[in-house]
Amino acid sequence: MESESERQGSPYDLVPVVLVGVGVRGRMWARILAREPGVHVVGYVDPDPGARAWVRETFGANARCFAHHPEALTGTKPALAVVATPPMERRALCVALADAGYTLLVEKPLSADLVDATAIANRCQQIGQRCWIAMNFRYAATTVAARTILQRGELGLPGLANMTYWRNRDGGSPGLNKYPLTMRQPMLWEQAIHHLDLIRHIYDSDVITVSATTSNPPWSEYADDTTVCATLTLANGMTVQYTGTWSARTARDSFLWRTDCARGALVQTALFDGLHIVHDGTEAMEYVPLPVQEPFMDDIRLLLRAVLHDFHTGDACAPSIDDHLRTLAVTAAIEASAEHGLRVHVPTFAAALGIPMLPDVVAYDAPARRFTQSSGLKRPKGATRGTDNGSDCRWRWGERDEYGLSPRGAWGEGDPPRSGRHRGREHR
Ligand SMILES: NC(=O)c1ccc[n+]([C@@H]2O[C@H](COP(=O)([O-])OP(=O)(O)OC[C@H]3O[C@@H](n4cnc5c(N)ncnc54)[C@H](O)[C@@H]3O)[C@@H](O)[C@H]2O)c1
Repeated sequence: MESESERQGSPYDLVPVVLVGVGVRGRMWARILAREPGVHVVGYVDPDPGARAWVRETFGANARCFAHHPEALTGTKPALAVVATPPMERRALCVALADAGYTLLVEKPLSADLVDATAIANRCQQIGQRCWIAMNFRYAATTVAARTILQRGELGLPGLANMTYWRNRDGGSPGLNKYPLTMRQPMLWEQAIHHLDLIRHIYDSDVITVSATTSNPPWSEYADDTTVCATLTLANGMTVQYTGTWSARTARDSFLWRTDCARGALVQTALFDGLHIVHDGTEAMEYVPLPVQEPFMDDIRLLLRAVLHDFHTGDACAPSIDDHLRTLAVTAAIEASAEHGLRVHVPTFAAALGIPMLPDVVAYDAPARRFTQSSGLKRPKGATRGTDNGSDCRWRWGERDEYGLSPRGAWGEGDPPRSGRHRGREHR
């Protein structure tokens, strides 16, 4: 049986948490929450008796389980609700939790329906409730390093990028959730959304236009499309080509993301590793050493730390609901583009739902420049600094959080290695 961690090292009171949804992802959350020094889980909610049995087997017979959230609302007094239910029916649930006074941390996508997502955001704004979204890939070592290298500017301005993600995802596999087999556009809303969010995050720029097709090869076991091909133009002038699929036929999955800049390129050859710098006009791939992270665990833990930091301080460092709406708008715009065969202007598309994005194409004048994106959503009480996407208070290299831990994992002090130190190292 797993026990909860020693509660040491935090200057703040423990945050009481309820975990809503204890499926594949919820179980990862359950383990992370149980070991997190700053929180105390006071209840688990899941209508599935098997999920509740897992909780009791894992955390002991005294773990408080509820079949439905209204029972938990009266039976516990949590401050934070972590929501890991399927994303098709989140509206009533999230609104009920926010109305009951819970701060929310919701798994991506907030909703697979942009209207529902906007309704949740509006409700949170109306009642002054905060909501963060679990975009854990933002906390992967590759992401932190790539973003830092680009912002440092040694490669010059990024101009072109190509991301390909080929996965043979067996939808019937026991370790995977089942609802994607029947949901609308599963690859787009479940998987590509991470990639689209990373594009916005790493290039620190919003998407202006999308032109996309989605499709489903004849051998696909999914009811709807498992392949997304999209061309994006960004406010910083970049063009990004994206191809993602769950219907690859080989046993080996592949991920390749290259960003070509004025003085070289950044090339990532694996989902959680394989970041390289290539200097202008050369072929040697200079490997960027990264700290060891357990995929899908350490990145979530770091995200949780950022959320707890914001929760206690009122800062806006973790991925916020209003920032997430802009990623959702890109996702929905791709679906619309594919459906209607049109190139979609994302800010106009988003504005129709009241989601503010950059009003027009803005020149990317320097790598150090950060776009300030005003969402129009009311800042929660106590939030005194930071833009909506946290762009002026993002973690810097070497910074420590209130627990004395680096939010990005196990790097040493100081910057990631500058290019040149590892020149010539082989591509792994
Ligand atoms: N960020 C990531 O890397 C990542 C990875 C996997 C899943 N996810 C996300 O996590 C969410 C859940 O996915 P999953 O894989 O755990 O799905 P899942 O189907 O395995 O689990 C969902 C669980 O929610 C429960 N549930 C359904 N309605 C509920 C309700 N109203 N109240 C409480 N519980 C309810 C179900 O009984 C089930 O146990 C999705 O949004 C998914 O996209 C994120």
